[in-house]
Amino acid sequence: MRIGMLTGGGDCPGLNAVIRAAVRKGIDGYGDEIVGFRDGWRGVLEDSHSELTIESTRGILPRGGTILGSSRTNPYKRDDGVERVRDNLEKLRLDGLIAIGGEDTLGVANRLNRDGVKVIGVPKTIDNDLGGTDVTFGFDTALHIATEAIDRLHTTAESHNRILVVEVMGRTAGWIALHSGVAGGADVILIPEIPFDIDEVCRLIRRRHARGRYFSIVVAAEGAMPKEGTMPVAQTGSVDEFGHPRLGGIGYALEREIESRTGYETRATVLGHVQRGGTPTAFDRVLATRLGLAAINAAHEGAWGMMAALHSTNVVLVPLADAVAQVRHVPVEEYEHFDVLFG
Ligand code: F6P
Repeated sequence: MRIGMLTGGGDCPGLNAVIRAAVRKGIDGYGDEIVGFRDGWRGVLEDSHSELTIESTRGILPRGGTILGSSRTNPYKRDDGVERVRDNLEKLRLDGLIAIGGEDTLGVANRLNRDGVKVIGVPKTIDNDLGGTDVTFGFDTALHIATEAIDRLHTTAESHNRILVVEVMGRTAGWIALHSGVAGGADVILIPEIPFDIDEVCRLIRRRHARGRYFSIVVAAEGAMPKEGTMPVAQTGSVDEFGHPRLGGIGYALEREIESRTGYETRATVLGHVQRGGTPTAFDRVLATRLGLAAINAAHEGAWGMMAALHSTNVVLVPLADAVAQVRHVPVEEYEHFDVLFG
């Protein structure tokens, strides 16, 4: 078979492990030819590609990012986008595509599949917010980076008797914030799923002071929002081709608000893209490898329109539509389960 492959959306540790596994199995196991498109759907629209070989994918397993490049290009935002995708796949004599991405990239894959293009999906995102799978690769790495940062901030917060606010990624889902906050022993964790009460945040911090703990760690997801009208939060206003706003700013807003309300010195750290960069954890390398193998096997089974996913400890195929039906948020009960540990 001749199979195209692309990586779209925000990059994430483990993408290269998927590419390597699919290329190895495709070429050595099935005698396939694999074509890699540059920069997600942009490469398919503009026919920017190169052949992927065992040689060209050697040594990439532990490397962060993606050797194919990535973008947030949306073919459905171009008048002739779908025709161009079809024409270019035909010109390259491709039997189908493996699209590695999150909600947006797989949303396009699902629509293209309905429009007659043969696509198999592989879920990725540090945000861990995709449906159809229990976990996405990239999340474990981001979690380790955020937890290590919280551990480091702990010692300096304690030395200086400061409140340190850590803003982490995750878009509208609080998985990174909740899990890194719990792993790092944060005193307050704010997630997008539950609008927070700034009075309650300050109460927890004051209570720690009253108990002789003169520092606190507040972990805030970038999408965390105060209850309406309770404190000012600046928005950037810009959106990407999929209509997602550029998030960020809650960390500094909390820094100002907590300091002015409590009088305790407060500083914010925005972890940003450091959470997405660098080498994947062993867990993410293994998961990404398993999904890459499952995707190439699925192509040979003709399982177009499906996505390789992790259910419990098993890799299975689920309809692409399941992955993008809705964003997978942190259940409120899961958050509340931990609230005895706050403050
Ligand atoms: O979806 C992954 C993610 O890192 C989000 O957590 C974050 O909101 C967004 O991407 C940042 O996007 P960009 O790379 O365009 O700044």
